[in-house]
Amino acid sequence: MAARAHWTSRLGFILAAAGSAVGLGNIWKFPYMTGENGGGAFVLVYLLCVLGVGLPILIAEVYIGRESQRNVVQAFEALDRPRSPWMVTGWLGLVTAFLILSFYSVVGGWVLHFLSKALLGQLTSRDAAVGGYLEQLFHSPGAMVFWHTAFMALTVVIVARGVAGGIERANRIMMPALFLLLLFLVVRAFGMPGFAPAVTFLFSPRLEDLTWSAGLQAAGQAFFSLSLGMGAMITYGSYLKQGESIPRITAVVAVMDTVVSLLAGVVVFSVVFTFGQEPAAGPTLMFVNLPLLFQQMTGGYLVAVAFFLLIAFAALTSAISLLEVVVAYADEVHGWPRPRTALLMGAAIYALGVLAALSFNVLGDVKVAGHNFFDLFDDVSSNLTLPLGGVLIAVFYGWVLGRDAVLRTFDGRGPRVLREGLLWAVRVLAPAAVAYLLVKGLAGLWA
Ligand code: PHE
Repeated sequence: MAARAHWTSRLGFILAAAGSAVGLGNIWKFPYMTGENGGGAFVLVYLLCVLGVGLPILIAEVYIGRESQRNVVQAFEALDRPRSPWMVTGWLGLVTAFLILSFYSVVGGWVLHFLSKALLGQLTSRDAAVGGYLEQLFHSPGAMVFWHTAFMALTVVIVARGVAGGIERANRIMMPALFLLLLFLVVRAFGMPGFAPAVTFLFSPRLEDLTWSAGLQAAGQAFFSLSLGMGAMITYGSYLKQGESIPRITAVVAVMDTVVSLLAGVVVFSVVFTFGQEPAAGPTLMFVNLPLLFQQMTGGYLVAVAFFLLIAFAALTSAISLLEVVVAYADEVHGWPRPRTALLMGAAIYALGVLAALSFNVLGDVKVAGHNFFDLFDDVSSNLTLPLGGVLIAVFYGWVLGRDAVLRTFDGRGPRVLREGLLWAVRVLAPAAVAYLLVKGLAGLWA
């Protein structure tokens, strides 16, 4: 077997892992969920979930990857024993990668569609019927499939070029660009009358908004946003060399991901409040409400282009991590050359995505357990296979590998409270929280 690929540096890993974490979850989902759940209280619970559940599982995944130097399936064999039943966790991760990437690429396609409209000035020209663009896209199967194809092709091309030459290189370009674009938008938002109300909305929690449903959504969102539960972080961790400090680099990744969500929230709500719009618009907030406002804003053209470019980069760097989970496995287990694997696996996921894309129009009447394909792939992965994978990973790390693994994670150093805290979090807190999520998710799936 060829020597295993590695990141060229610690920064390479950090940018790639942050690239995986920062995605549609941060810029599309986080603001609209916060808007629907009343603001500050949701943000507060979200932050607690990242710290208590997200970060511990992130550490566990990166550790499993770095120690085993293997893909999601073989990682469990390498750390436990050959044919270990824990391999199931890896299989589950592969299935989840298929499911998530199929609908993720469809939404990535919407972003590319809006980016092209922004570039052509069609989001900001005075008489354009901007508010209806998403609806229009839904009614055009050809356009939906076209943009899904474009998004998936970009993903495949990057992954085909390998870990250092493809994934790391792409992240080294797109992630700094993403931060600059976000900074530009935050500065722009700072000058708007809606900035102060936005900050108040996000950061002064009203305790009466704390509901179970908001807590549940916050926990699920923390999980999805940090790319946990399906092995993306195991796979990326497996390209780390021994000797990197896992607690430190994972904390950097978690902070970056959280800061991007919060800043995206600030930008979105500054715009929303400046123009006296409703924060609780839901999933269409980014594609219907915001573009309407770009039209009224001075310099809206630049803001619209920056905004959709930012989201396109965020979505693409997450999509490549999803495809890499599958490609790393097929590559190492079956010895297929990477470009061919990327193309084959990409094509299979793409086909599933076509079903999701067409569920908005041609296949609108086809329902599985009451869901169209798009919702089915989203719900089954977010509410079922991701939390299930998360529990298994936490239990494997906390109980099967146990105290030794936690000590090795800290390289025998670090304050005792942190080590004990991590052990407690992965043994008790995270499995309990995620199992609860799972039960609720299952109940919701059949509701
Ligand atoms: N974290 C990504 C986002 O927030 C989604 C993702 C989930 C990516 C799981 C990889 C694995 O958009």
